[in-house]
Parts: sequence; structure tokens; C-alpha cells
Amino acid sequence: MPHLLRIDSSADLRHSDSRALTALFTDEWAARGADRTVTHRDLHVNPLPHLEDAGLHWTPETRLDDDAVSRASELLQDELIDELLAADAVVIGAPLYNYTVPSTLKAWIDRIHIPGRLAGDVRPLAGRPVVAVVTRGAVYEGETAGWDHGSPVLDLILRGALGMDLTIVTQSITLGDRAEPLRPFAARGREERAAAAERISELARTV
Ligand SMILES: Cc1cc2nc3c(=O)[nH]c(=O)nc-3n(C[C@H](O)[C@H](O)[C@H](O)COP(=O)(O)O)c2cc1C
Repeated sequence: MPHLLRIDSSADLRHSDSRALTALFTDEWAARGADRTVTHRDLHVNPLPHLEDAGLHWTPETRLDDDAVSRASELLQDELIDELLAADAVVIGAPLYNYTVPSTLKAWIDRIHIPGRLAGDVRPLAGRPVVAVVTRGAVYEGETAGWDHGSPVLDLILRGALGMDLTIVTQSITLGDRAEPLRPFAARGREERAAAAERISELARTV
């Protein structure tokens, strides 16, 4: 029974491009078979608290004696990790906020990246497909080409540390019709929207 985990982190519940793309992926992926199931974790609607203690980054055996990890924090971490491990495929909406991932998504990453449990010598998610949808308001080329510091976080953690089979679908200039300085790029923004949807459909048929 194939299972998909859909994660959203956009703080926009009305016009979000990343939400539109994760929804498109989910609908088309699920339509491939009646036995397919989906879990939707919305990190904006139900945000995770910031990490209570640095000891949560480690397995119980590798924590320091005076790490102050509560049972409640451990249970939340277990819930998130079990949810991730249960997924045959994952799709993540990751808008660019102040040049990096939204803090809600970072809070999730901080709770699931644990050397010795999902990373390092033990990598139970190795090879598992994950599609990350990165939506960016502005243009990233020339001087701004390297200003997206969200995509490298996703690559370093999901592909690098966890060993997942990561595909990033990037849609830029989402604010072409809204922000005055981006108006000259609006047509390109619309092209990017169409291209991202096409790529997501293609991935939903194959992942
Ligand atoms: C808090 C906040 C910070 C943002 N920071 C950036 C930024 O640093 N660079 C950028 O290109 N766009 C930035 N944007 C615009 C978003 O990346 C853009 O609107 C994107 O489409 C958001 O994803 P969504 O459509 O899924 O909500 C920001 C938007 C918000 C709400």
C-alpha cells in the first residue's frame, strides 16, 4: 500500500504556489491507485515548537548526562520520525523566506535530523524519494544567483545527511504580478509557474 507524506510550510493559505504544487503532486500521485494513502502535515497550520533542548539532536545513548530532554519532546520526535519512515514518498513545500526555508520547516528539520538514527552510519531513508518544491518571489540570476540559502539546506540534510533521493523543483518570480520591481519579469514568472506544474505532474507519475 504506497503511502505519501505531504508537508507544507507556506504561511499563505490562499495564494500559495508551493501549496498548489504539493496539492497537484498529491492528487496525481494518489490517482495512480485506489490503495494509495496520504498523510498531510501542515507545519504552518500546526507549527512545531522550537527545539526544547540540544540533546534532541542526539540518540539517547550519545546524549550528555546533563542534557534536559523531556519525555514529551521525545514522543513528539518519535511521532515525526515514524511518520517520515512510514512514507514511501515525500513531497515538501518549501517557500523561500528571507533567503532560507520557513522557520516552521526548519523546526521540523531540527527534529528529524538525528545522527545515529536517520543519518550517519544508520540511514533507513536512503534512496527514498522526496520532492521539494521551492517557491521564490524574486529573480535568481547574475548577482542574486547564489542568494537562495534554502535549497542548499534541503540538499545537505535530505540528500546529504539522510541519503534520500531528492528532486528539487524550483519556481521563481512568483511575485511577478504583485511586486512592482518584479513587474518586468511577470511573463517569465507565469512561464515558471506552468513549467513547475508540468514537472510536478511528470514526477507524480513516476515517483
Ligand atoms: C516572510 C517572507 C519572506 C520572504 N522572503 C523572500 C526572499 O528572501 N526571497 C524571495 O525571493 N522571496 C521572498 N518571499 C516571497 C516568497 O518566496 C514567495 O511569495 C513565494 O511564492 C512563497 O511561497 P508560496 O507561494 O508557496 O507561499 C518572502 C515571503 C514572505 C512571506
